Amino acid sequence: MDNIVNPIQKVDFTFALIFGISIIILFGITLMMIFFVIKYNKNKHPEPADIKGNTLLEIIWTVVPTLIVIGIFFAGWDSFRALRNAPKDSFQIKVEGKMWSWKFIYPDGRTTNELYVPVGKPVKLNITSEDVLHSFYVPAFRIKIDAVPGMETYAWFKAEKIGKYDILCAEYCGVRHAYMLSKVNVLTEDEYTKWLKSENKITKVDQILKKHGCFDCHSTDGSILVGPSFKDIYNREVVVLENGKEYKIKSDENYLKESILEPEKKVVKGFDPVMQSFKGIVSDEELNAIIQYFKNNLSDSKLSALEGKKIFEREGCSGCHSTDGSVVAGPSMKGLYNSKEAVIKNGKSYEVTVDDEYLFVAIKYPDREIVKGFDNIMPSFGNLSDEEVKNLIEYIKILK
Ligand code: CUA
Repeated sequence: MDNIVNPIQKVDFTFALIFGISIIILFGITLMMIFFVIKYNKNKHPEPADIKGNTLLEIIWTVVPTLIVIGIFFAGWDSFRALRNAPKDSFQIKVEGKMWSWKFIYPDGRTTNELYVPVGKPVKLNITSEDVLHSFYVPAFRIKIDAVPGMETYAWFKAEKIGKYDILCAEYCGVRHAYMLSKVNVLTEDEYTKWLKSENKITKVDQILKKHGCFDCHSTDGSILVGPSFKDIYNREVVVLENGKEYKIKSDENYLKESILEPEKKVVKGFDPVMQSFKGIVSDEELNAIIQYFKNNLSDSKLSALEGKKIFEREGCSGCHSTDGSVVAGPSMKGLYNSKEAVIKNGKSYEVTVDDEYLFVAIKYPDREIVKGFDNIMPSFGNLSDEEVKNLIEYIKILK
């Protein structure tokens, strides 16, 4: 295959060719029509002639259009090949689509989530997918190619201007499809060489998490995406499923490490076992950094508690519940969390542990279980969002 340096020239030529032929045909037909209308006017030829075929004419009007169309086809085919075939000196970058992020792998093995390319140099992307069909789409470069698992597709481009351009996924691939956004960063050649030479050392944990696409499924703000949020993930009690058996476990260092390396082993209840194993992908160093990050991230619960305090005051909870142990209309919040309380439900009395679940129900539906010795007078706070209720519970937790 020949190495086409400037496919744009070929495309321009093909465009001019097709456009020129179209203009000639348009004017040819229009002029002929006008000519015939005048020449064979009813006044001049009142009796229509009965023409019975003309072999020469038929050959001409078959052969000439066929030649024209074949000419257009070859010009178009040539341009298409020029557009499709990447120049031999293209800079090669591997692209992997996965639910739900893009990964770019450079010749020296480094990986990024955004694409970095030099300006004015042809770049060839070898595209594949780790899981389902995606579609690599850069509107600014007019590139859209499917990313297919088990198959390599390709695209190439030459960025002509420095800047940032959007990358999207153009094939619906699951709940977070719309989040498969990335950027093409077009750098000057100098900047690019510098970037390639830079050590690319990952110091910040969120870069590690980003690199491995963790944020595609795990939030840091407590919201639930595909997997549990990273917020307060360390040392909390979770219900897990192992071989169909359900039990409680503390998400300590060992459990978290195991969950990264063998995520399918103990799946947190309520989530699908969709996470891939990061065994051999995440280095030990990275793994330790991630666990440390989870430990540090605990301070979020404090933030949450502060938020809860505001809600506690705003909603007038303090009108009936003290925080110092004194009893007003309802139980005091002091030392309430994790205590055992006798409650009454439908006239039956029994003991409960005041845990997150109990508090959640008690705030949203206070008339379901009444703590013994108190009246059923608390209004429902079902108007609070789940997040707000969780913040309230965080606040109650710190009132010891
Ligand atoms: Cu990937 Cu849509």
